[in-house]
Amino acid sequence: MICLGIESTAHTFGCGIIDDKGKILAHQKAMFTLEEGGMIPNEVADFHREHADTVIADALGEAGLDWKEIHIISFAHAPGLSPCLLVGMHKAQDLAAKHNKPLIPVNHSVAHLTIGTLLTKTKDPVYVYVSGPNTQFIALEGKKFRVFGETLDLGLGNAFDKFGREIGLGFPAGPQIEEIAKKGTKLLDIPYVVKGMDVSFAGIITKAAQLFTNGESKEDLCYSLQEICFAMLAEVAERAMAHTEKNELILIGGVAANKRLCEMLDIMCKERNGKFVPVPLQYCGDQGVMIAWQGILQAGDKITEIDIDPYQRVDEVIVTW
Ligand code: ATP
Ligand code: FE2
Repeated sequence: MICLGIESTAHTFGCGIIDDKGKILAHQKAMFTLEEGGMIPNEVADFHREHADTVIADALGEAGLDWKEIHIISFAHAPGLSPCLLVGMHKAQDLAAKHNKPLIPVNHSVAHLTIGTLLTKTKDPVYVYVSGPNTQFIALEGKKFRVFGETLDLGLGNAFDKFGREIGLGFPAGPQIEEIAKKGTKLLDIPYVVKGMDVSFAGIITKAAQLFTNGESKEDLCYSLQEICFAMLAEVAERAMAHTEKNELILIGGVAANKRLCEMLDIMCKERNGKFVPVPLQYCGDQGVMIAWQGILQAGDKITEIDIDPYQRVDEVIVTW
């Protein structure tokens, strides 16, 4: 069985093709970026509409497949920005009708987790999911993913993007912050905010922005932000592993591209005889391959209704696979 998956929840329009053994046949995407400022949902949706047909055609070309050889189509119906979700859903509905294929709506956050387990060959890991809007510590419990801890305000990616806007970086700021941080040396006085199993970044960003106005260098600020925020993630991840008695940890979501974060989680895992397994970089952030794989996993689901669900959380999805 072969599934073509469409991703359009936020900045990326992606199309992936995968078979039921987990063999990736195509991975194509177009990502909305900005030199300066933040994303405006309707502008991103226009970007997706413009790029959709090319990205999908390129994916079929890469796989060397015809529509006849695609068995199902999946798309991310949740969570995300409504105008962007609608572009993906309408495109998937048109293609499913035109080529007479079953259509499977899937949750984007769940897809981040399941592509992670597929590619790391882990069995039952603790997931640290750090994207733009999300920062969550998750593990499978029975028929649902359980969120053991999460951010009380901004996701770390969005917090970095917000700080980036304050210091004049474009979107997304995370990769630039990682580069700039390499030149920082001084650990500045930025708050460390862990409350039980939850974390909070809003106050940290406000303080970092103040320090920038007071003349601290971008290099030391980016370095300090990373060291403090990543230490917070490592602390809660460790407690999630201890609590669940699981010894594998994987990191997913766009911020997983950050080498320093991977290094800190790896050290934490080694110290407790656990295993940190990195997800290949091109599958950490948003892409269609994870949506296609989730389509394969849910191929047997009875679909009664197709609609977008901008706020569906990872712990609301019943695991049917
Ligand atoms: P979600 O999956 O929760 O719907 P999303 O799809 O918007 O969120 P992702 O693509 O998973 O998010 O992640 C995007 C975020 O990752 C951006 O905020 C970006 O700044 C951040 N990011 C990307 N690369 C890096 C990096 N090297 N270091 C830090 N942050 C990074
Ligand atoms: Fe994502």
